[in-house]
Parts: sequence; C-alpha cells; structure tokens
Amino acid sequence: MESLKQRILEEGVVISDQVLKLDALLNHQVDPKLTLEMGKELAARFRESGVTRVITVESSGIPVAFAVAAELGVPLVFARRKKTLVGDTETFSERVPSFTKGIVTDIMVSRQFLKSDDHILFIDDIIANGDAARGLIKIIERSGATLAGMGVVVEKCFQQGAATIREQGVRLEALVKIKSLENQQIQFEV
Ligand code: G4P
Ligand code: NA
Ligand code: NA
Repeated sequence: MESLKQRILEEGVVISDQVLKLDALLNHQVDPKLTLEMGKELAARFRESGVTRVITVESSGIPVAFAVAAELGVPLVFARRKKTLVGDTETFSERVPSFTKGIVTDIMVSRQFLKSDDHILFIDDIIANGDAARGLIKIIERSGATLAGMGVVVEKCFQQGAATIREQGVRLEALVKIKSLENQQIQFEV
C-alpha cells in the first residue's frame, strides 16, 4: 500500500533498530481516511474467506479492525486485557507476556462472541514478536472457531512473530512489510 508507506516515511520515528514509533498513525492518533483505506485493502484480501467476525486485541488494533469489519459487514470483537482473571467460565483467556512493557497480562474474549461455527479474521496494527497474537490464536483454536487468516498494518520482518504464525499454517497478510530499521532508516521489503 504505497500511500501508507509514504505516511510511515513521513511520520514514523525510528526509536532503535527494533522499534518504530507510529503514534501519529496507529498508536495514539488515528487518521480516519487513511484507516478506512487500510480497512478496504485488508478486507479485499479476505473477501472470499467467508468471514463471520473480525477480532483484534485492544487497544491499537481497534480502529483498523473496525474499518475491516465495516467493509465486510460483520461484527468486530476486541479481546480485552485484564490484570487478573479468577476462574471465569464465561470467557476464553490466555496469559501473554508483553515484551515492550515487561509485564504479563491476560487477554480474554467472552464465549458469547466467539462460537465454534465462526470464521474469524484476526486484525492487528503491528506484528513484532507476536506474543499477544499467539495468545489470541490459542483462544480462537480453543473456541473451535475457524481462523480464516490474520491481517496486519505493519509486519516487522526482522522479528519472528509473523514467520512463526505462518509456520502454523495461518494465512497472514501485511499492508506494509519493514525489513530493517538500521541506521535510522526505514527499509521496506519490496
Ligand atoms: P505482538 O507482536 O503480538 O503485538 O506482540 P509483541 O509482544 O511483539 O509486542 C508487544 C506490543 O508492542 C504490541 O502492542 C505491539 O504492537 C507493540 N510493538 C512492538 N513493536 C513495535 C514497534 O516497532 N512500534 C510500535 N509502535 N509498537 C510496537 P500492544 O501491547 O498490543 O499494545 P497496544 O498498542 O495495542 O495498546
Ligand atoms: Na500495538
Ligand atoms: Na496491537
């Protein structure tokens, strides 16, 4: 998606060889017009997949996931993060480590909004190590639902999340793939 690459070059801030700050587009401010375009593009890639629900994890995945769900005409469910969950039988939950925040959180989805006959499209903003993503995929598996695929705005190819998920046989589509952030340069994979 060329327009998105351009915006990332203009507004992304390289923090280190590993981290690209995208607060202006994804993680703090949201550009509605650009987000709707992202939604259109990701929805187009999964239009024939029989998607019944879009799922993301709060918070930064929600705007683009909403845009995809609106395009496909299906509900959006966002997994919630909880500090602790004590024996709740009404929800599916998974414990996930957060590499960047250095803490462990539980993500949860109510059984009410994730059914065994669902075809789920998992949308997220950035895939890095993929810890949260693998947690949500486990939840989808445990529900008995079918994972139609995963769509992300940004894939950081130099981290292992996306590769690991594709190795599991999941179709993972990225709008933009970043090969390297070395020398303060954002390099896209062509
Ligand atoms: P993930 O790949 O499944 O997201 O898990 P990982 O543990 O690798 O990343 C943890 C968090 O850090 C995620 O946000 C992820 O989007 C964010 N992150 C990782 N690398 C980058 C980066 O280069 N730039 C930015 N802006 N974010 C990065 P999160 O914990 O899900 O929080 P939220 O943004 O949804 O609130
Ligand atoms: Na994030
Ligand atoms: Na996210």
